[in-house]
Amino acid sequence: MLEEKARALNSYLRKRLVVIAIFLATVLILFAAVRYFAPWLMPGFRPSSKATTVDQGLQEFLESHWQKPIPFQGQAPAKFSALEASLGPEACGTCHKQQYADWKESLHSRAMGPGPWGQIVDMFSNRPDEAVQCMTCHAPLSEQLPVLAKVAANSDTTYEANPHLDKELQLKGITCAACHVRQHQRFGPPKADGPNATKYPPEMPNHGGAKRTPYFERAEFCKDCHQFDPENSLLVNGKPLQDTYREWQNSMWAKDGAACQDCHMSNRRHLWKGIHDKEWVKDGVQFKAQLQEPKPGAGKTVTVTAEVVNSAVGHKFPTYTTPKVFVRAALLDGRGKPMPRTQQEHVIGWDARFEDGEWKEFFDTRIAPGKTFMEKFQWKLAQNAAKVRVWIEVHPDHFYHVHFYPAHLKRADLSAEGRKLVERALDESGKTPYILYDEVLPLNTSDRRQK
Ligand code: HEC
Ligand code: HEC
Ligand code: HEC
Ligand code: HEC
Ligand code: HEC
Repeated sequence: MLEEKARALNSYLRKRLVVIAIFLATVLILFAAVRYFAPWLMPGFRPSSKATTVDQGLQEFLESHWQKPIPFQGQAPAKFSALEASLGPEACGTCHKQQYADWKESLHSRAMGPGPWGQIVDMFSNRPDEAVQCMTCHAPLSEQLPVLAKVAANSDTTYEANPHLDKELQLKGITCAACHVRQHQRFGPPKADGPNATKYPPEMPNHGGAKRTPYFERAEFCKDCHQFDPENSLLVNGKPLQDTYREWQNSMWAKDGAACQDCHMSNRRHLWKGIHDKEWVKDGVQFKAQLQEPKPGAGKTVTVTAEVVNSAVGHKFPTYTTPKVFVRAALLDGRGKPMPRTQQEHVIGWDARFEDGEWKEFFDTRIAPGKTFMEKFQWKLAQNAAKVRVWIEVHPDHFYHVHFYPAHLKRADLSAEGRKLVERALDESGKTPYILYDEVLPLNTSDRRQK
């Protein structure tokens, strides 16, 4: 009897469920259809919404602006003076002094330094396709390429000397023209207003003015070189080796509308400071070291917590696999000298390397925007310990200096030129480390007065 009732109830409920499911499905389908065919019926839809129309234009702009390589500029208009016709950064600099002075200091102007060029120069003999690939980011103008790809009817690719190679430009890295000039037409952001707006003397030649577009202020403008395509590139533990744009996209900065330029080019400066600049990194990363117990007695354990906060870096800290950030601590004696064998360390970074024929991830302790890295240091307290030193060392080129260049220099197929350049890169990459934060915490041990 009971059983029968239960069965009846069950089948009633099942029928109800089916009806509800059909109803829900219909609503969903209708909703999707409205969204697809008639977006103006959606709640919150604003006619000529900036988001949708601008994005379409943005895609078109990016596709034409960032071709790989950037097509030849061709003949300059006859009315241009030699200065206006030149693609050389120095020429731009005669009229745009501030941008030139900034750029010259930036890493974009050194993107064909001994590290990249030392490798690329040797690739032209046996792997020209890879060499050309590297140059799409490091020296992206066609005028900078020593060779050009020639695709045959059977789609075989051969490489031949570039008749329009500009030797002067070749090693100048990411030039002004790479970002600003197409077919000798200048492109730039909308005119700035206010007291900081650039003013030019009225009689100054102006290369026919400039096409101004808001896309220069978008993060997507930087994306082609600072983000590998997650669909079509090597993934290490699911992540492309360069993922900066996507890290930014998932952060509060993207949601608040702060593009790369708002941090890296504020006031339209062209410095692009990054991990190599101590003061710049200090503005983005906070540090706190704390003794857990203020008065540990001799023989007790002393514990220090170190906290590193990514407070204003628009992506992971650090974003690439190449830097390493060492959080270190050691006990000091009464005279401030480090005590032997007390140094400990934790590492912030992404350790991903090609080893034994495959890419491996050893660890990924990078700090996402807004997040905190917290680790402990612990020692058994010795009689003569008086202080704890906690400090952060940043090694911006760690991977290159410790792993990549030494391995590269062991290769047998290097030219004399390539070897000399990479030896220089090895040397230079060893000079970039700096101390970001340095703190000394006194141990108020019960049996000793603190100095
Ligand atoms: C002979 C002087 C001169 C040279 C050389 C020159 N420019 Fe200009 N440039 C000007 C002037 C003047 C303007 C302002 C044009 C206007 O008001 O529309 C300008 C405008 C621009 C703008 C628009 C943004 C702004 O500040 O108004 C960009 C971008 C630009 N130039 C880039 C370049 C680049 C890149 C080069 C080198 C490849 C270059 N210019 C070489 C004089 C020069
Ligand atoms: C044509 C490719 C290209 C474009 C476009 C580009 N970059 Fe770069 N960027 C590079 C390369 C290559 C380097 C490394 C240069 C070197 O050290 O050899 C670099 C270096 C940097 C660095 C310094 C990194 C460090 O280690 O300190 C910053 C910051 C940076 N870029 C930001 C930007 C921003 C912001 C934009 C967009 C406005 C942008 N870049 C557009 C290729 C590009
Ligand atoms: C998608 C753009 C892109 C491509 C392609 C690319 N790079 Fe880079 N490269 C960068 C960026 C961005 C940096 C700066 C970040 C860093 O240090 O990892 C960089 C940094 C470097 C550095 C260290 C900085 C320096 O000046 O010493 C070397 C060396 C280098 N690249 C070599 C190469 C070589 C060789 C290739 C081709 C096999 C290549 N790159 C291809 C974007 C690119
Ligand atoms: C990696 C790309 C890149 C390179 C290289 C580059 N610029 Fe720019 N430039 C930009 C972007 C992006 C803006 C707009 C920034 C913004 O709106 O925040 C800009 C803005 C400008 C402006 C407008 C400044 C203003 O006050 O309105 C001028 C002029 C200019 N650049 C000239 C140059 C010159 C000259 C060089 C070389 C010495 C150069 N740029 C190199 C990307 C670049
Ligand atoms: C909220 C400010 C902010 C925004 C937005 C931002 N960055 Fe950064 N970026 C920093 C700071 C601070 C550093 C130095 C710390 C570091 O290296 O992670 C840095 C470092 C870098 C570096 C140095 C490489 C490295 O290993 O750390 C590159 C390259 C870079 N940013 C590119 C970009 C690009 C591309 C975007 C946009 C997609 C962007 N940044 C957005 C603040 C910002």
